[in-house]
Amino acid sequence: TYVVTDDCIKCKYTDCVEVCPVDCFYEGENMLVINPSECIDCGVCEPECPAEAILPDTEDGLEKWLELNTKFSAEWPNITSQKEPPADADEHKGEEGKFEKYFS
Ligand code: SF4
Ligand code: F3S
Repeated sequence: TYVVTDDCIKCKYTDCVEVCPVDCFYEGENMLVINPSECIDCGVCEPECPAEAILPDTEDGLEKWLELNTKFSAEWPNITSQKEPPADADEHKGEEGKFEKYFS
């Protein structure tokens, strides 16, 4: 599966949603997550994200993100079409420590 990581927080560009063939993105206040049991591992969303927030969970150190994507995709609503990112999205692009600062 692919997972969304903290680079999405406060960016939410939603380009990923537009290309996902199985509509497996779910939307929280500050970020999106992927439902790992619905993701078909096609990989098309990864290069579409301007914040480089999407990674395959085969990369090292992503256990925390796999867990978080699994948990919140069961709680948050499905998002199936692209929408305007937050006005200050570009200011938060590439910012360090976004999970600690903003995730609630
Ligand atoms: Fe959707 Fe494919 Fe990305 Fe999985 S890898 S979230 S199926 S676009
Ligand atoms: Fe987030 Fe990137 Fe999608 S910033 S909403 S994972 S395009």
